[in-house]
Amino acid sequence: MEINWDLLRSEATKIMKSAYAPYSKFPVGVAALVNDGRIVTGCNVENASYGLGLCAECGLVSSLISSGGGRLVAAVCVDGQGNYLAPCGRCRQLLFEHGGPQMKLMTDTGIQEMSAILPWAFGPEDLDRNER
Ligand code: THU
Repeated sequence: MEINWDLLRSEATKIMKSAYAPYSKFPVGVAALVNDGRIVTGCNVENASYGLGLCAECGLVSSLISSGGGRLVAAVCVDGQGNYLAPCGRCRQLLFEHGGPQMKLMTDTGIQEMSAILPWAFGPEDLDRNER
């Protein structure tokens, strides 16, 4: 599947401008290509109760599921200047759940796979190793 990285970056930058980040003043935007061709996006949404803030990737995953689901093929995460941003640890886990080890992420050093971004990850298959 062809990945239009320029489009993902511009969609991430566009949604970043909608971020609600009055406390950190650090807006984040993320855009991802889904395996059916659509693009889903998210921005961070903070809260006066600081610890409750939602990362941009949370919004993206919510949008993915509420718009029909699917698998994430590739993602771009940007900061307030539109530069590539390393997703936080929790968000790596969120992306891994829906993209798996092969999902691609654009970074300052080029395209990386989730298997490198989140090595030795805990994922859905690990749950199947035990009877439930
Ligand atoms: N943030 C994200 O939205 N995603 C990340 O992967 C890194 C951090 C947000 C959380 C908070 O609103 C702001 O960036 C500063 O940490």
